[in-house]
Amino acid sequence: MSTAAMVHRKDQIIDLHAHVLPGLDDGPGRLEEAVELLKLLERDGVGTVVATPHVAPGFFWPYDPARMEDKLAELRQAAAAAALEIEVIGGAENYLSPEVVQLAEQGRLPTLGDSRYVLVEFPRREVPFWGFEALERLQRSGYRPILAHPELNDQIRADAELPSDLVRQGVLLQLDASSLAGRWGSRVADFASSLLQSGLGHLVASDAHSARRPPEFRAARQALARVTDRRTAQRLLCDAPAAVVQGVLIEPERRSVGARKEA
Ligand SMILES: [Fe+2]
Repeated sequence: MSTAAMVHRKDQIIDLHAHVLPGLDDGPGRLEEAVELLKLLERDGVGTVVATPHVAPGFFWPYDPARMEDKLAELRQAAAAAALEIEVIGGAENYLSPEVVQLAEQGRLPTLGDSRYVLVEFPRREVPFWGFEALERLQRSGYRPILAHPELNDQIRADAELPSDLVRQGVLLQLDASSLAGRWGSRVADFASSLLQSGLGHLVASDAHSARRPPEFRAARQALARVTDRRTAQRLLCDAPAAVVQGVLIEPERRSVGARKEA
C-alpha cells in the first residue's frame, strides 16, 4: 500500500514492530486474536502499525511473501469490519542470517512499508561475529537497518561499546515498549533507559505478540517521562517512526537527550 495516503495525527503512535498477522509466527494464531491485538494497539494510541512477522529463512520461519500479503489483506478487511481505524501496513522482522543477507543482495528483503528501512534482529544471547559485516552488506544493498530490541541481547548489555559501534555504522536502534515498562526485569529496563539517556535509542515500538504480550505503550510513556523529556518521547513514538514509513532519512548520530526536563 502506498504510504503517501496515510494521514497521521501528530500525537498518534506509529508502531514499527508488532506481530499482528495471524498464523504466521509466534503472534496471534487466529484472525479473531489478531483483531483483539489491533484493538489493544488502538486503545494505546496507535494510529498506524507495521505488521512485522518473523522472517527467519533457514531457521524457524520461512519467507513467504505471498502468504504475508494474503494475511495482511485478511487482517485489514477484518479490522474494517470491526470498525477499527488503525492502519496496518506490511513489514517484517528479519532474523539476521546468511539467508537474510542473500535476500538483501537479491533485492528481496522485506522492508517496513514502502521504505528502504528493514527491521532486523540478532539472536538473544550474542552478536554473531559476522553481525557487523552482515549489516554492512544490507547497507551496501541499499537497505537501512533498524536493530530491534538491542536491550534484550545479552552481549550488547554486557559490552558498553557495542551500541555506539552499531550507531556509528549507521544502524538505528529500536527499543521495545515492554522493556521500558519493566516486563523483562530491571536490568533490561535500566539498560534501555541508559541507551535513551546516552542518545542511542532512536525509536520505541511495541513488539506486541498477543493479549498475553500486549503493546504496553501506556507504561512505556510513564517510563519515558521519568528518563527523558516530552519532545524526545514524541520523537521516539511518533515522529521518527513516521519518518521511517515515509522513507525519510534519519541520521543515527549520537545525540544526548539529557536528564528529565520539559521541552
Ligand atoms: Fe518482534
